[in-house]
Amino acid sequence: MKRDGTCMSLWQNNIEDYISKTQELPSGIADVMIIGGGITGLSTALQLQKAGKKCVLVEAYNIGFGTTGGTTAHINTVLDTPYTDLIRDFGQEGAQRVADATKDAIALIKNNIEEHQINCDFKIVKGFLFAQNESQSKVLGEILEASRSVGIDANHVPAIPAPIPFEKAIHISHQAQFHPIKYLYGLAEAFEKEGGLLLQHTRVERVEEKGTIHVKTSRGPMEARYAIYATHVPLGVNVLHFRAAPYRSYAIAVKLKSNVYHDAVVYDMYDPYHYYRTQDIDGESYLVAGGNDHKTAHEANAQFCFQNLESHVRKYFDVDSVKFKWSSQYFESIDGLPYIGHLPGNPKSVYVATGYGGNGMVFSHVAALELSEKILNNRSKYKDLFDPSRIKLAGLSNFIKEQADVVAKFLGKWFYVKDLEALADLAPGDAKVVKYEGHSIALHKDDMGNFHAVSPTCTHVHCSVAWNNAERSWDCPCHGARYSFDGKVLTGPASKDLEPIKLKHE
Ligand code: FES
Repeated sequence: MKRDGTCMSLWQNNIEDYISKTQELPSGIADVMIIGGGITGLSTALQLQKAGKKCVLVEAYNIGFGTTGGTTAHINTVLDTPYTDLIRDFGQEGAQRVADATKDAIALIKNNIEEHQINCDFKIVKGFLFAQNESQSKVLGEILEASRSVGIDANHVPAIPAPIPFEKAIHISHQAQFHPIKYLYGLAEAFEKEGGLLLQHTRVERVEEKGTIHVKTSRGPMEARYAIYATHVPLGVNVLHFRAAPYRSYAIAVKLKSNVYHDAVVYDMYDPYHYYRTQDIDGESYLVAGGNDHKTAHEANAQFCFQNLESHVRKYFDVDSVKFKWSSQYFESIDGLPYIGHLPGNPKSVYVATGYGGNGMVFSHVAALELSEKILNNRSKYKDLFDPSRIKLAGLSNFIKEQADVVAKFLGKWFYVKDLEALADLAPGDAKVVKYEGHSIALHKDDMGNFHAVSPTCTHVHCSVAWNNAERSWDCPCHGARYSFDGKVLTGPASKDLEPIKLKHE
């Protein structure tokens, strides 16, 4: 199974590509087109298909290619945005409804697993949040009180199941975990069994409203009554690109010398925080640890993030070997709650779900419930909380109108490899943006010593991409588009590849 980066995640190990039953583009009008084959797309598609809608799910690569293949799959009721902040910003009632939404989401995950007999190592586990200094302890006490006030079962405990020194800790009952790709494949099978059409390797290039929704894909046109972007941020230029910021998070899966693995999800209270859990796969246990998050393309040497994470984990655990390391992308909203609902600036029949922060497993299922309720019954339980239009930003509509396509700058031009090679001085596997004869050129030298050159201008709205040396991708700092080493789109909102630059050897 492939993912949007070079590093292999624990979830890709021994997992083949999912083979869809659907190979041909459908004729006629679908009820709902779901764009994106991650956990949001498939959980929503299954809900709608089961309720009798004719759904088509399209994925640019293979299902699980995006963040679902790189998550650490914590299913938690205590969220990245603590209930102290939710009560402050949305009132006691608002915070209570967020807690209720997370409960509904976890119930849906359980129900999907039971009803469709998905074998995905789902497990209810204990959760622990621990403080390591006085100020964290004070905040922890407030989080405990706020979490209890919305019905979460939590209490102070004298010990945590991880060998990390702490000052204060709380236990939260009924957290959960699973193997995200096994779960995703189970959803896909159930969706297809219910009659849903699942098209992989089909890139959506344009979505237009002409009475119905007309979708141009890499394999031809399709038509639907509703469209759902389950791709994090949508294609094109939208206000949502300015309300959701892309972040990268790092994870490692390690073997421990002691072979003793804790059966819980555990979090510290730093910002960014570290998170730990155990996963058993094919008779082997792994400690999965994550953290060292940063804004996409804001870290000059992403490999340092892996090194820092590994030394942090080695400080506390008896690490024998690091078996897997990988990173993935998520989006933060402005106010800490996701954007789920009608996509601003689009026809009423176009929806989106994004801005989950580090709580993608839970919020993806909140989206499945909320979007299917909207499409099936024109009702919304949580519109006021999750409406993507809830945050107004001044001056954006003019900006959006003014954004034209990136103009081809390198048409008919070529460059000598030896000139760029001398300028860039790259080691195999490395890359940089170089200036040459007034041009910026994104240059990568692969492991075989071959050079690949592309324009560093992001095809979304013209920011300059930066090299991610951990995943060997060109990442855009503005709205999170990512491209392969040779400029192919890995993740939106860009829909066009980086402009190729011709190189000559002699
Ligand atoms: Fe928007 Fe690159 S993702 S400019």
